[in-house]
Amino acid sequence: MKKFLSSVAMAVAVAACSPQSVTPESSTSSSEAAAPTMAEIKSGVDYHSLSNPGEMKVTHLDLDLTADFDAKRLKGSVTLTFDKLAADASELVLDTRELDIQSVSANGESLAFTLDEADPELGAALRIQVPDGINQVTVSYQTSPQASGVQWLTPAQTAGKQHPFLFTQAQAVHARSFIPLQDSPQVRVTYTAKIKTPEELLAVMSASNDPDTPRDGEYDFTMPQPIPSYLIALAIGDLQFKAMGERTGVYAEPALLDAAAEEFEDTESMLEVTEQTYGAYSWDRYDLLILPLSFPFGGMENPRLSFITPTVIAGDKSLVSLIAHELAHSWSGNTVTNATWRDLWLNEGFTTYLTYRIMEMVYGHDRYRKEAVLGYQDLTDDVAALPENDEILAIDLRGRNPDDVFSNIPYEKGALFLRELEQKVGRAEFDKFLVNYFQHFAFKSITTDEFVAYLDKTLLADHADKLDKARIQEWIFTPGIPAGAPVPTSDAFELIDQARSHFLAGEVPASSINTQSWTVHEWLYFLNNMPDALTDVQLAALDEAFNLTHSSNNEIAHSWLMIAVKNNYEPAYERLYSYLVSIGRNKLVKPLYQALSQTEEGKAFAKKAFEEAKPGYHPLTVKANEGFVE
Ligand code: BES
Ligand code: ZN
Repeated sequence: MKKFLSSVAMAVAVAACSPQSVTPESSTSSSEAAAPTMAEIKSGVDYHSLSNPGEMKVTHLDLDLTADFDAKRLKGSVTLTFDKLAADASELVLDTRELDIQSVSANGESLAFTLDEADPELGAALRIQVPDGINQVTVSYQTSPQASGVQWLTPAQTAGKQHPFLFTQAQAVHARSFIPLQDSPQVRVTYTAKIKTPEELLAVMSASNDPDTPRDGEYDFTMPQPIPSYLIALAIGDLQFKAMGERTGVYAEPALLDAAAEEFEDTESMLEVTEQTYGAYSWDRYDLLILPLSFPFGGMENPRLSFITPTVIAGDKSLVSLIAHELAHSWSGNTVTNATWRDLWLNEGFTTYLTYRIMEMVYGHDRYRKEAVLGYQDLTDDVAALPENDEILAIDLRGRNPDDVFSNIPYEKGALFLRELEQKVGRAEFDKFLVNYFQHFAFKSITTDEFVAYLDKTLLADHADKLDKARIQEWIFTPGIPAGAPVPTSDAFELIDQARSHFLAGEVPASSINTQSWTVHEWLYFLNNMPDALTDVQLAALDEAFNLTHSSNNEIAHSWLMIAVKNNYEPAYERLYSYLVSIGRNKLVKPLYQALSQTEEGKAFAKKAFEEAKPGYHPLTVKANEGFVE
């Protein structure tokens, strides 16, 4: 799955994109170059942007776009305002991917531009010649129907089946497929947008949204706080709004609106406890947008408006830690942002740590502990499966597409590291540190090294008796889970281990296991820790007693279907098929495709499902899974 950029592209990336000066030895000069060593990585160099913010830095965007659902294109222009940082700079370099650039102008006069040859992973650099005295250019363009960051859905692919839908997903490197811009998380911009849609549809963005705006097909937005490009987001559909609290509400298709508002009614409390613990919320409102089933992620923390998969509307709030997670990003990620994708753990590890804390505050200690154990198991699974270099928090991503490296490492290992710091200095002290950290780096994009330097000056200096530098280096720069890490436990799960053992030993039939008090977490723990091989009799007994094949909880169904695939349990295959063709969330479908691909029969089945599902899958879901069915 690893994709390597051509050495030429690497050299261009390294030379052109760095906001800091880069020495040439960090680029490879031959296609047979030896594997790079960690020491060569230049902290803060964004290896995934071709743009030149070190010379000219874009600070503001004005978007003017029309959504043409027939052509599957966004058409219009963006005006970019920028600062000239290098006195002799004459070229503004932007990232693009599959954009059709029609013209570039400044003050109504055309400007010369060139579009480089495209790199398959990074896209094509757009080079604009900027005359002296100019700090604003307008690019007229349209997107490709295949834009990697945009999904155009037909009415049949929506909950309501009446209207089309569009949504963008920019993280990590896909904003460039719908806006020509400096697509690096260390470039922050404010923006305004004018979006034209079919009259009956509503547009929403990661910006100020007015729930009462007249639905007339013309919508205006402003995002007054500087955000990185990966947080620019747009969705258009038959959307309605329902308030959940004073500052929180949900946008969804009418068919899902009430269920979503009920499922996520604790969002306002989550917002309140997070503010009390980590400092004021900086983003005005916090709303949710419920997407169609093809959304490739669980959630995406677009500022003021998190994008959420409908697969977590379970009816019992059992999967709402996703909301805590996306909300937490308002502090860790959106306010303090990773400078490059190598530093992703600063976003996801801090956010995962905060998620556990929020869940504990809102739902209590027992639930937090169960979720922490399940998260830890995801981590140990990944550590067992991944190559060592991919287990490092500050990961070397040179020559790799961040999409291909997605794992639990930045999430759960990052969170465990912070948990260890918390336990060593005490919760009150650690909370104080975090409040200061969020304040100190507010609206900045920072590297792992900047974080370490800050930690040195603050927590480490104040608690020299409890913390040591070598241990911190071990957490951030070495593979695996450091020995002595604070492994989470849950008393509630001890009972589940016993129930599973008794069942597997044939001492207790499935129908006699007392599952009355089990929540989704108990079920996941029960299923995820089954041995790989079960007998048909055991599978049938479990299914008969608990109707697992037809579980309406998508996470439980996922865990059960994984067991079914490993054991070729045919009665579950009809559900498996409909699960694969209806859901696009990668976390749920990718492990199933991967497991199916292990046998000839499984692969044939996967291929059939994939072919049927493909027209409705998001480009990222297609890319993540097509290798399993080749
Ligand atoms: N920001 C991420 C999604 C993401 C990460 C997109 C990296 C592209 C590249 C989001 O906040 C996230 O972590 N989503 C998880 C949520 C889960 C851990 C609760 C998901 O989608 O599964
Ligand atoms: Zn996240």
